[in-house]
Amino acid sequence: MLEKLIERANVVIEALPYLLKFKDKIIVIKYGGAAMENSDLKEEVIRDVVFLKMVGMHPVLVHGGGPEINRFLKKKGIEPKFIGGYRVTDVETMKVVVKVLGEKINGQIVSMIKKAGGQSKGFYGKKGEVIKAFKYWKKDAEGNKLDLGYTGQVGGIKYRYLLKWIHMGYIPVLSSIGVGKGGEQYNINADKAAAAIAAYLKAEKMIMMTDVRGVLDPTGKLISEVNTYRADKMIKAGSLSGGMIPKVKSCLYAVRKGVNTAHIIDGRVRHALLLELFTDHGIGTMVKK
Ligand SMILES: Nc1ncnc2c1ncn2[C@@H]1O[C@H](COP(=O)(O)OP(=O)(O)OP(=O)(O)O)[C@@H](O)[C@H]1O
Ligand SMILES: [Mg+2]
Repeated sequence: MLEKLIERANVVIEALPYLLKFKDKIIVIKYGGAAMENSDLKEEVIRDVVFLKMVGMHPVLVHGGGPEINRFLKKKGIEPKFIGGYRVTDVETMKVVVKVLGEKINGQIVSMIKKAGGQSKGFYGKKGEVIKAFKYWKKDAEGNKLDLGYTGQVGGIKYRYLLKWIHMGYIPVLSSIGVGKGGEQYNINADKAAAAIAAYLKAEKMIMMTDVRGVLDPTGKLISEVNTYRADKMIKAGSLSGGMIPKVKSCLYAVRKGVNTAHIIDGRVRHALLLELFTDHGIGTMVKK
């Protein structure tokens, strides 16, 4: 019996080097819609996040909600549309985005954090207005501008305001909704929003939790580490598709802007966050400069 307890104490003390390394560091976590589908897992992820805060790190959550937005759209008879991994957001779709991300998922995560014993503050579009945005014009292969409607691009982050909440002990939870100069709201790819937030906050790490093991090579094998040069090559070679394109691009952006490492991990694995932060090898794909 005592042996078992000592073993447990050993496991706890093994975290000490990592706790020292990451103390007071900001960790931006993108919690993908795709990895949020299982509600038991969701509760565990939230508890892990509260744990990180309680042991001295500063987690910041940015959430997506793609699958749920798609379900809502389909109920309204609207077919979701994507170009190169980016959602085409018309007026009706934007209403659904605000409803699902801002009103539903954001509030749910904030209350789950509170239930798990943490303090949390939700920021979603007009409420809090942390993400400044403008219209995103995507270019096709020939350089022609493509109109994605209310799909936006980050223009700036009110990071001092966020830092104030962080240092007051709160875990910020942000929906990827930005606000334009005229007060109009934009739907921003959550990976891109997370990367901008990580860059502005000078985060130590950005961790993207998704529904695949990480970046897979064309044979389906996990790539455990990739530098900016190789990642750029993969994008150009077309070995990424769908949501993985903005995800890898966002990792590249973050590390180029000074975030130490960016990680794409499997949010379906229990305690994926803790495994990533408290072991040497980590899981998933690490993007480094
Ligand atoms: N080379 C690749 N390696 C891994 N996944 C890939 C690759 N190419 C495309 N994908 C796809 O990218 C998907 C992950 O991106 P997706 O945008 O769907 O999820 P998410 O970003 O976690 O959720 P949300 O967009 O709702 O926030 C994977 O489920 C996979 O189908
Ligand atoms: Mg995505």
